Amino acid sequence: MNRKVAVIGAGNVGASVAQYVAEANLADVVMVDILEGIPQGKALDLTQAGPVRMYNAHVTGTNDYKDIEGADLVVMTAGLARKPGMSREDLLKANADIVGGAADNIKKFAPKSFVIVVTNPLDIMTYHMFKRTGFEANRVCGQAGILDSIRFRTFVAMELGVAMTDVQAMVLGGHGDTMVPLPRYTTIGGVPIGELISAERIKAISDRTRDGGAEIVKLLKSGSAYYAPAAATVEMVKAILLDEKRVIPLSAYLTGQYGMKDLYIGVPAVLGAHGVEKILELKLGKDELDLLQKSGQTYKGFLKEIGY
Ligand code: LAC
Repeated sequence: MNRKVAVIGAGNVGASVAQYVAEANLADVVMVDILEGIPQGKALDLTQAGPVRMYNAHVTGTNDYKDIEGADLVVMTAGLARKPGMSREDLLKANADIVGGAADNIKKFAPKSFVIVVTNPLDIMTYHMFKRTGFEANRVCGQAGILDSIRFRTFVAMELGVAMTDVQAMVLGGHGDTMVPLPRYTTIGGVPIGELISAERIKAISDRTRDGGAEIVKLLKSGSAYYAPAAATVEMVKAILLDEKRVIPLSAYLTGQYGMKDLYIGVPAVLGAHGVEKILELKLGKDELDLLQKSGQTYKGFLKEIGY
């Protein structure tokens, strides 16, 4: 294939990203990991699924960053995952070191690439990647808004016993406890959610969405979710590689939008061949804007802890 996606980290999220990219015939994939044999073994395994899953993408694994040379897009997944009871922010310092090292290598070997960050705490790690690579802001964004929105869509569909694909939703803010689900922008087959679900149940569904990652961490006991996070990430990979101009919530660099600047936070944006092509400024209600700004302030605080 003439496109190349590099996936940093061959853990559950990284390998699932590689799988979905290959299955969608989007690009060749190279997985990088520090563990010897793991990326190579998973890559060979994925390659052997090709004849029946109908793909010809080359999937390779390596321990050498040099092999990401020529990548059009890099997905950053490496990092420690949460254990039960941990917040995403507990991972701050350890993952900042991992992301910093990866950023130096991405800058060196794939200086023209787009970067999608998945490593937690998401909005902080995306800012760190942006600063450390020195890439333009449109080339660095974070995956979380789609994941949080598809969780919301799933729970709304489960509530009414309707098709998940008929539910549209928008979740903004940081990927954490300050996440901002927006029921006002949530529709079921075009019908506003408030006409079909009580305010009390909408609140319960919003809360479950906010805790959606922790619910899975608690069930798995070691490690965190990966199928939905990887699927959400590949929606973004596809939007960039195919220049789809998708309107999706993602962690983007703000320069005054929503009254905030010099931070990454979840906002609706247009994603296409130039990466984050535009940030959409919704006319939020006062309560909604307050929540979004509160989320932003929380992340500003965390940025200080890693030296910004
Ligand atoms: C989640 C983790 C990956 O939300 O942040 O599942």
